[in-house]
Amino acid sequence: MKKRILSGTRPTGKLHLGHLLGALENWKKFQSENAFFMIADWHALTTEYETHSEIRNNVIEVTLDILASGIDPEKCTLFVQSHIKEHAELGLLLSMITPLTWLERNPTYKDQIEQLQGKELHTHGFLGYPVLQAADILLYKANLVPVGEDQLPHLELTREIARRFNHLYGKVFPEPEALLTDVAKLPGTDGRKMSKSYNNGIYLSDEPAVVAKKIKTMMTDPARKRRYDKGDPDVCPVYVYDKIFNPSVLEKVNVGCRSGELGCVDDKDWLIEAVSKVLTPIYEKRKELESNRKKVEEILMEGAKRARAIAQVTLEEAKQAVGI
Ligand code: TRP
Repeated sequence: MKKRILSGTRPTGKLHLGHLLGALENWKKFQSENAFFMIADWHALTTEYETHSEIRNNVIEVTLDILASGIDPEKCTLFVQSHIKEHAELGLLLSMITPLTWLERNPTYKDQIEQLQGKELHTHGFLGYPVLQAADILLYKANLVPVGEDQLPHLELTREIARRFNHLYGKVFPEPEALLTDVAKLPGTDGRKMSKSYNNGIYLSDEPAVVAKKIKTMMTDPARKRRYDKGDPDVCPVYVYDKIFNPSVLEKVNVGCRSGELGCVDDKDWLIEAVSKVLTPIYEKRKELESNRKKVEEILMEGAKRARAIAQVTLEEAKQAVGI
């Protein structure tokens, strides 16, 4: 039997190269299994409840990014979380058996509260984030959940919640396993973590000319001030990109940068070509989809239909087990 796969992404903005390597490439690998991919708009609301007006549009933007990157809705099920009210209902059921201490000690929770200082996140919804995520996963009885390392605490909580439910009410849920995405972290154009708030991202929706411009202005070894200075590729963000997008030039860049014979501009020109090979087809496919919003909405409707059919059966089973 094919394993069931489920993963999700929060629609907090357009997707960038980091998402492409970190999540979408991995999703693509598994899309021919029994795969469900979800746009977690309720999860977005846990942190964006004040900037809520962007969420609906972001759902569409993220859907365009996902489809353009090669996720095929014929092969897998792509849907929006809030289209399936069963997520909320199972989330409520699971909240009854989830001790607060499990949620309060969650390292991702503590981290986020600290990182998102400007936001008031001492809300019921935000503390309960992993309970809703457990519902997302358990509703589909997913066996495998492709995620990044930051999501491991949530996965562990999902397993604990499943175990507790099964212990109390009889076995309904399989315990899902994380499928860790093992990719190099891609820095932003300024060398920091790629993030919307740093304004240092290269987006799947960026025009090829914009991508080229962003790469041209990328930070390199800050100690290398003049053209013939010797550089250190190990501290250069462009070199990190070379490793991922342009491995055939690595040796040349490594030697040329250290000796000062190769200029950063040349290295960047090669990189622009290599990144364009990946991004231009995505950009073009995205443009085509953008002009056909109706089709995109239909894809999400169809996905919701398929997802809902499964979600309803599992929820009914869970309610039966509890006796409600
Ligand atoms: N928390 C995940 C993230 O921030 C998104 C998510 C929501 C998710 N529900 C999920 C991921 C279920 C995997 C499975 O990336």
